[in-house]
Amino acid sequence: MDRVTDMPDTPARPAGPAQVNHYDSFAEAYAADNENNLLNAYYERPAMLALVAEVTGRRILDAGCGSGLLSAALRDRGADVTGIDASTGMLALARRRLGNDADLRVVDLSDPLPFADDAFDDVVASLVLHYLEDWGPTLAEMRRVLRPGGRLIASVQHPFVDYAIQDPRPDYFETTSYSGEFTFSGQSVPMRFWRRPLHAMTDAFTAAGFRLSVISEPQPDPAARELFPDDFHALSTQIAFLFFVLEAPLSPTDSNDQPTATARFG
Ligand SMILES: C[S@@+](CC[C@H](N)C(=O)[O-])C[C@H]1O[C@@H](n2cnc3c(N)ncnc32)[C@H](O)[C@@H]1O
Repeated sequence: MDRVTDMPDTPARPAGPAQVNHYDSFAEAYAADNENNLLNAYYERPAMLALVAEVTGRRILDAGCGSGLLSAALRDRGADVTGIDASTGMLALARRRLGNDADLRVVDLSDPLPFADDAFDDVVASLVLHYLEDWGPTLAEMRRVLRPGGRLIASVQHPFVDYAIQDPRPDYFETTSYSGEFTFSGQSVPMRFWRRPLHAMTDAFTAAGFRLSVISEPQPDPAARELFPDDFHALSTQIAFLFFVLEAPLSPTDSNDQPTATARFG
């Protein structure tokens, strides 16, 4: 994914201003980029899989599953995966990858989730929460569909990156949106993200009833060193995404225990 910090003066397509975050219109381009690039294939996905760890027999909800790359990896490791996404275009690619038997549904994460309480052992949310202004209702729903003792494993744009790349810089302590033009497999598209301070993320998790278990700033997969020598060096020395493991307490009183956050770097 190549990033240009400011919106261009001319729209990406002559047909008129494109809709922001319109994954349906660039699903193929995004999926092709995501499949083998350094950022997703050798950094984000391996980091998520390492945090999720042993998944055999676990019921996992992949929230914002996109074209199903993480779902496929989890399924290959023995998980029973359900994928949801707001984009029918992305879900069509996930369907192609995962087959007709896969449980894939169009769901907007701003809406209530169409699942029973305690339906899942884990929820994974890769690079999707930063599309939402208000995390409260979404996290409450994720907490509801997780069984006690279940986990939410999430990756987001690192809040310090989102703050530092803007010129002029926003008020760090406010939740603000920013836009930019991104290129996926040669297709330029307008995107908009919601940035918030780090404490607003951890506050939102705990307000939804989660206990913070891990904060991770991982390194890229060493296997990518030879494939992307220059970018590998850059990614190993700069922050990009931030990863969380949150636990749904086993009992209501459990959530009032002493916080047990473990900062895990690397
Ligand atoms: C950056 S892509 C990540 C896809 C996938 N998780 C991965 O890592 O390969 C973000 C995905 O979130 C989806 N998405 C964005 N906003 C959403 C929302 N409000 N509800 C559900 N899905 C959403 C997009 O359609 C897209 O598939």
